[in-house]
Amino acid sequence: MTHLCKETLVTVVNGQLPGPAIEATEGDTMWVHVVNESPYNITIHWHGVKQRLNCWADGVPMVTQCPIRPGRSFTYRFAVAGQQGTLWWHAHVACLRASLHGALIVRPNRNNSGGAAGSSPYPFPEPDMEVPIVIGDWWDMDLEQLDKNMMDGYFADSQTASTINGKLGDLYHGCGGAGGDVEEEEDGYVLEVEAGKTYLLRLINAGLYAEYYVKVAGHRFTVVAADASYVNPFVTDVVAIAPGETVDVLMAADAAPGRYYMVALAMQPPEPDPQVPVASTRGMVRYRRSGVVVPGGGGGEDVVPAVVPDMPDMHDVDTTFFFHGNLTSLRRPAPVPARADERMFVTLGVGSICRDGEPSCERSGSNESIIVATVNDVSFQEPPAGAAASLLEAHYYRHRAAAGEELRALPDAPLRVFNFTDEALIPWGPVEARLEPTEKATLVRRFRHGAVVDVVFQSTAVMQSGSNPMHLHGHDMFVLAQGFGNYDAARDVARYNLVDPPVKNTVVVPGLGWAAVRFVADNPGVWYMHCHFEFHMSMGMIAVFIVEDGSSVDISLPPPPVDLPKCDAEESLAVVPDKFGVVQNS
Ligand code: C2O
Repeated sequence: MTHLCKETLVTVVNGQLPGPAIEATEGDTMWVHVVNESPYNITIHWHGVKQRLNCWADGVPMVTQCPIRPGRSFTYRFAVAGQQGTLWWHAHVACLRASLHGALIVRPNRNNSGGAAGSSPYPFPEPDMEVPIVIGDWWDMDLEQLDKNMMDGYFADSQTASTINGKLGDLYHGCGGAGGDVEEEEDGYVLEVEAGKTYLLRLINAGLYAEYYVKVAGHRFTVVAADASYVNPFVTDVVAIAPGETVDVLMAADAAPGRYYMVALAMQPPEPDPQVPVASTRGMVRYRRSGVVVPGGGGGEDVVPAVVPDMPDMHDVDTTFFFHGNLTSLRRPAPVPARADERMFVTLGVGSICRDGEPSCERSGSNESIIVATVNDVSFQEPPAGAAASLLEAHYYRHRAAAGEELRALPDAPLRVFNFTDEALIPWGPVEARLEPTEKATLVRRFRHGAVVDVVFQSTAVMQSGSNPMHLHGHDMFVLAQGFGNYDAARDVARYNLVDPPVKNTVVVPGLGWAAVRFVADNPGVWYMHCHFEFHMSMGMIAVFIVEDGSSVDISLPPPPVDLPKCDAEESLAVVPDKFGVVQNS
């Protein structure tokens, strides 16, 4: 594809970016045939699908399965039961998810919705139209290289842009300037609406690195769901959405017929955090009048100027805090358990390790050290791609060492206690430097089947003060409370919402703040828990939660599907067809 005046090779699904939307009805069983024609090892993760007793289909390389090698294929089989709304799918491979993702929409089963014929299957009036809005970003470089750079602790020089449904929009220009063609605007996403109709926008943040503010000029949204759980509706003119989250809103086309910009603005923490170039993209909501589109844009004379929304400041951390604080669940699938069996306090931060395994080195951005991301002061070491089996197979067959790596228990509290949100720790210097040293380890935390688990996530300020959208596979979490500053149990437990907390698969932990979640560890398997900022993930802000089998066979993990990919490199080398011209390099 050519964007930003540069041709870039991109890996996509079925020739589309975003990839195809998968549409299902609650209760359906899906078979998705993944044929890997790319040169990369691939897995696909069904983000937010609970995969009850089906961890084998969760799609995390070397954690739940050996990857699908180039030229090979695998069929993911899973049910979407007990959940409805907007989910999505993405490659769970390095930065490749920037171009390998799409919506996964689960609609209610009309026969089960209980209403009279013709009534809405939703807990809100049935919209006239449903529209997935996928926010993403465009990278003009090889995404695998981008991931390597991240693991080496630096951002590459690359141009990036934000996208709505794959389109960059008219804030980006083509080859202007010397040697280039005339300035040419990039196409933007256009949603044509009819006055008086209501649209259900299913927003998905598939971007790698930023929370976004989304607005449509002249319109307001009614938020009705987040992460495929219905919420008590509330009206807002701005949506805040972090990577990994989905937000469903109703938008009535009730403005004067015309053209209104839809803007997605990437947020970033204020200075002294390192600043990245402002990323913003815009598409258009365009009214149709008696079948005729309102003139404007490229038509020359008679142009009705499009209305531009007033956006929050990109450094505004309050709007996202209050947006997320407004979420309360409409119907809970189950009551919130009154108390927890296990409690963890997990700090999320950034540290460094010495290059080449040296025992000591200079920190604070020195080339002697590599910046990594941590949970409780340890940075996750991914199981090696050359291991004999995935962690899940090792767990299932009780081969403790089969993943080729020593596992380390994730501590229930941070190794270092300091003033976590002290802004003096943000700039490089001797104060933060002594908090930097950390190490890599494959962190796991085991839970007895059925344990009620409380996790307080605390963002820290060492070298950066960004938020952390923490995603748990295989389970939804009740988000009990959030706050700025350091969590203080004596003060904050009293604020827990045990009545109607939102149910999320991705909880946004505010920058310089915390969020408290509760979940029931009742889905046996090996589940990734990580920050959905790709760079935090590449850099190690990950742990693995292992949920033990229950006491009977119907609450224990069944055996793997017979066709689950094998890790054995020899075996796959022998059968890689050469019709794709792919060189297998394992
Ligand atoms: Cu959407 Cu583990 O990811």
